This record gives sequence, structure tokens and C-alpha cells, in this order.
Amino acid sequence: MPAPTPSRVFHRSLTSDYPMVVSGDGAYVIDSHGKRYLDGSGGAAVSCLGHSHPKVIAAVQAQVAKLAHVHTSFFTNEPMEALADRLITDAPAGLSHVFFVQDGSEAVESALKLSRQYFVERGEPERHIVITRRQSYHGNTLGALSVGGNMAKRPLHQPLMNPSVVHVSPCYAYRGQFAGESDKVYTERLAAELHTAISAAPPNAVMAFLAETVVGASLGAVPPVAGYFKRIREVCDRHGVLLIADEVMCGMGRTGQTYAITDERVAPDLLTIAKGLGGGYQPIGALLVSQTIHDTLRDGSGAFAHSHTYNGHLVACAAALAVQQVIREEDLLANVRAMSTHLEACLTERFGNHAHVGNIRGRGLFWGVELVGERATKMPFPAGMQLAARIKSAAREGGLLCYASPGNFDGRDGDNVILAPPFNVGPAILEEAVDKLGLAIDASLQQSRA
Ligand SMILES: Cc1ncc(COP(=O)(O)O)c(C=O)c1O
Repeated sequence: MPAPTPSRVFHRSLTSDYPMVVSGDGAYVIDSHGKRYLDGSGGAAVSCLGHSHPKVIAAVQAQVAKLAHVHTSFFTNEPMEALADRLITDAPAGLSHVFFVQDGSEAVESALKLSRQYFVERGEPERHIVITRRQSYHGNTLGALSVGGNMAKRPLHQPLMNPSVVHVSPCYAYRGQFAGESDKVYTERLAAELHTAISAAPPNAVMAFLAETVVGASLGAVPPVAGYFKRIREVCDRHGVLLIADEVMCGMGRTGQTYAITDERVAPDLLTIAKGLGGGYQPIGALLVSQTIHDTLRDGSGAFAHSHTYNGHLVACAAALAVQQVIREEDLLANVRAMSTHLEACLTERFGNHAHVGNIRGRGLFWGVELVGERATKMPFPAGMQLAARIKSAAREGGLLCYASPGNFDGRDGDNVILAPPFNVGPAILEEAVDKLGLAIDASLQQSRA
């Protein structure tokens, strides 16, 4: 069925024509003309099992047939309890309970509100400031947008934003680490910057430091330097500040670990997840909460002053539980780690000597390619060239869906492309994705010069 003319949908872009997608087939989606697209980024790093996984479909169908929705103010439910158990089993030390929401922004909002309530109930009501990093993304609802460090997204909504936010530098080795500077010294410099930011605020006013463990949308799959989060945790502890790990994009196996922060050997106080939690089969996000925070509320007011109608939706929880069970049963984290090596090799072979690829970085099946005007100076292309948008569109034309974003240089300039294929992928699909990405990048650069 072609798109009706005119469309009555308030689309993301009001000037674009979108093809009509009709079905999925593993790593591919198919439009109404029968054209197949390799979903090389799982949308926005969502579809971790690809499309149309039979076990997840069966779980969703069974749950809808049994019971779809009952408000969590009346009952708990089996899929929600089982999913919470599953998530806590592998969680970093100290995280003991799960608050279920619908998406990543709600998870971040919940983390902010819970941090605030925790300090109020602990008798530290002066704590309210959140420190986050530039070029970060934490969601699009007003609270989440306020703490985000994607500077291009802020000006329009500035008058509505929470002013209690301070931004510090990201851990972005390609651009932030000086030539010859060791990881230890770089990490020390970033930890000192956080310490200074906390000290510059009124006494005991800082509530939380919020950071993506591996930075997604705004920087393009940038893992932290070794030891960074350990030092950050120490600074937070020294000042009584909560550490919130935002793993909405990088969590749930995307980096080869259920929780990306496991590789950093650090436990946060709160941890947000979404995207790969339900793998796109249902909208679901969650906030993992430490025992200390849980117990403070339990022994204080007795309730979290925050909720949504669809908290703990039965079908969403059943879908996410099935996704997580498939990942375990099929040992897909091992495949993520094995295929990571192959994807890195393919990207390096194709772009390692490319005149306009400055950096290839990532972890697991979460890789970013950063485009530059000139490798030697790392100068980005100007935002007006809209290179990321051109690449995304050329790739779709060529049958590849990839996640391309601008702004990694300073919030405006800079272009990066993320590949985030499904966890059950084999080498051939990775090779196809990299081939198609190479064609799209070269065609877009050529088009921009013309
Ligand atoms: C790290 C991070 N946090 C939060 C969000 C917001 O998630 P959602 O779009 O599901 O609201 C995103 C979305 O890309 C994200 O990458």
C-alpha cells in the first residue's frame, strides 16, 4: 500500500516523503515496493534480535491473549517480576530493584526524580544540581533534554529547561586527549574537572553525575578511556554525589556485556536502560535502583513520588523477558564479542586509510565512524554541508539503514555514523553493511563537492 496523499501523520520531517515499511525479515526490513533494507543500526540501536524473531512474537502473542494491561497501583504481575529478577541477576553490585517505564527518556526522568527524592528523604534537601557531559544525549522530554549536553538541541527550548544543570567535558579520547597524554593523566584531568565543578557549586548542592557509559547518539559510539569511570566514581563518593549510568543505548548486551559499565568495574547508584531491553518488539525502558536508595524510600515516605499509566505493562515486560531469554539461550553476548572483532576489521579495512574518516571506535556491536574534512587537523566538515543527513539518505537509497548524526565536534559541526547490527548477525551481513556504508559515504562526499 503506498502512502496516502496527503499523509495525515505529523511526521518527523514535514518536507520528506517516507517509504512505507511493511515487514521485517531478520536483519532486514522490506518496504511496500518489496525493496529490502539491511537494518545496520537496528533503528537507533534497538533491534538487537533483528526483526520477526519467532520466540519473541510467540511470547507477545501469548501475553496479549492472557492479559495485556492492568494498572500497577492494583497488582504486580508475573512478566514484570520475572523480568526484574532477570535484570538484577546480572546487574552491577548494589543494584537491587527495577522501576519499569516505556522508553529511555522516561527512565532518565525517573532517575532524576528518584535522586532528588532520595536526598530529600535522607535529610539533604539542598542537593538538586545535576552534572552531565557536553555532547551527551539523555532523551527528549524536558527534564531529560535539560540534562543533555547536545548543544544543538537546547536553544529552542531553553526557556523551558531546568537551570540546575552543569556540563563538563566528555571522555572523548579522539578529540579530548592530548598527543602523548596517557590514559591515566587524561582520566585524572577529567576527574579533576568534575571535582572542580562540584566544588564550584554551593555546598552539598550537587545531586548526581549522569553519563552514558559508551556515548551514543551525540558522539557516535565512544567508549570511555580505561579507568575513567573508576576515577569518576571516586570523585562522586568523595562528595556524596550519586552516579547515574545512562545505558539506554549502550546497555543490554550492545557492548558484549549485559551492562556496559561491567567492563569499567564500577557500580553506579542508578542505571537506565531501554532500546535493546525490548529489542523493539515492545516499547519498554527501566531504571535499576540501588538497595540503599530503595531502602531510604521504603523506610521514609514508603513510595516513589512518580509514576506513569503504563509502568510495568504486561506485554512489554513479556516481550523484554523473551528477548533477554533468547540472548541467554543462544549465547548471543559471545556472538556480539566475536562479531565485534570482525566488524572492527571490516571498518578498518574499508575506512582505515580513507581521507575523510578521522576515527573508528566502538565496542561490541556498537561502532562509530567519524568524518573529518582533513585527517591531520581533525577539522570537521561544516554543519551546513549536512553530511550526516546525506549519508543516512544515500545509505537508505542503497539499501542500508544506519544511524548518522551531526554535532560531535562542538554540538553543531562534525558528522558520525553508527552501525549497531543485531546480536545474532553473521560475518556476511557485517560485510554487506560496511560495503554499503562505504558507498554511501563516498557518494555523499562526492555529491557535496559537486
Ligand atoms: C543514552 C540515551 N539516553 C536516553 C535516550 C532517550 O531514549 P528514548 O528515545 O527511548 O526516549 C536515548 C535515545 O537515543 C539515549 O541514547
